[in-house]
Amino acid sequence: MLIMKIKSLLLFAFLLSAGLVCRAEIVGYRGDVLYFTDNPAKKSDSYQYFEDGVVYVNNGKVVQSGSYITLKPQYKNAKIIDYSGKLIIPGLIDTHVHYPQSEMVAAYGDQLLDWLNNYTFPTEKNFSNFAYASKVANSFLNQLIANGTTTALVFSTVSPVSVDAFFEASQKRNMRMISGKVLMDRNAPDYLTDTPESGYAESKALIEKWHNKGRLKYAVTPRFAPTSTPHQLALAGKLVKEFPDVYVQTHVAENKAEVAWVKELFPNSRSYLDVYDHYGLVTDHSVFAHGIYLDDQDMKTLSKKGGSIAFCPTSNLFLGSGLFNLAKADEFNVKVGLGTDVGAGTSLSILETMNEAYKVTQLRKAYSEDPTSVKPLDPLQSLYLATLGGARALSMEGQIGSFLPGMEADFIVLNAQSTPLLASRMKNAKELKDKLFAFEILGDDRAVEHTYIMGKLMK
Ligand code: GUN
Ligand code: ZN
Repeated sequence: MLIMKIKSLLLFAFLLSAGLVCRAEIVGYRGDVLYFTDNPAKKSDSYQYFEDGVVYVNNGKVVQSGSYITLKPQYKNAKIIDYSGKLIIPGLIDTHVHYPQSEMVAAYGDQLLDWLNNYTFPTEKNFSNFAYASKVANSFLNQLIANGTTTALVFSTVSPVSVDAFFEASQKRNMRMISGKVLMDRNAPDYLTDTPESGYAESKALIEKWHNKGRLKYAVTPRFAPTSTPHQLALAGKLVKEFPDVYVQTHVAENKAEVAWVKELFPNSRSYLDVYDHYGLVTDHSVFAHGIYLDDQDMKTLSKKGGSIAFCPTSNLFLGSGLFNLAKADEFNVKVGLGTDVGAGTSLSILETMNEAYKVTQLRKAYSEDPTSVKPLDPLQSLYLATLGGARALSMEGQIGSFLPGMEADFIVLNAQSTPLLASRMKNAKELKDKLFAFEILGDDRAVEHTYIMGKLMK
């Protein structure tokens, strides 16, 4: 018996050294597989779609994806998880959201500046308590997973404790997440303000603690120009110089009263975006939420420096902020991702965000001087924004957002039979575009049947 065991162990060791068996098992996920390789607004050949496709995963990474029938002979020993008839796409990416605001979503009546004072600041006060922050962060991440969101760029609060709580919860789930401590040294309640020096020191300590730890990244996070003095913005720029691969996240040109206020506070700047640019905060790792009132010069600056915009339609409609001009961003080759912007946004679902993004582009058409020249958001472009576009906006195209070999295996399985309305609408959808449009307009967390993080089933 013992000799038999030794013999089989020797045989296994031989096969392993000869490369005939793999240390970790390759698993193939079979279904309708779709991912983008480029922006459909720019290129006609921009995606890969395999009806009866497969994504082979090993050790949390994509090995290969394509047609199941074609690839099957190469992966004879792979275990197959069968999602035939369901749509397998890369995990959804939220390029702008505030985890501490998930409990104050749906606050009635105010627009941006009053909404911040009346609802947001009092809520964010609670996040200097680690246990409290941790409870909200864990619940927030569970909701992201339920909605099929696998990566997000996330605001914490001014308290470093809120960042620790968020990163700890993200690390537990092995999620690719970016966050940072809010910098805010004026025009906010005393209980929520730091100083230029304390904000700099606390951010630096958090970068050293969390940036590039596993899948986590740090973002220097001035809330928006009105709540930071020039001195604080200068120190934020210093951090970016000292740690060139950290992110920058902030808000820009969201609301008309806000834009006018920035003009008063920074009379020497050409524009709102220019305030950030002056302090070295427009980089290829910068993500600006909203950007509704940016002009052509600002778009040129973003394009030249590689900064991105997070388009947050549910927030822009909820706060009555305005209608983002996506076509203009495309025209200037500015990277764009989708953001839920909860708590000003009204849903953590990127599918629901795509629904509202479509309506924003419809309203832009309605208000255009030449409506025939404006096309509502194409269903393919919408899903691009939610996957590869988001990855590009976060400079993570090499890690997430597609099923190219070597990508991290964050993916979701969508089920068209998840609600009666979606199922009946889907019966009439023949083309891929039409199927996607049905998911985008009618889908929510119920359509997300499974969520995988680095090949691990999380939902
Ligand atoms: N501008 C400054 N802070 C915020 C915020 O928390 N949410 C939104 N939507 N805009 C902001
Ligand atoms: Zn925001």
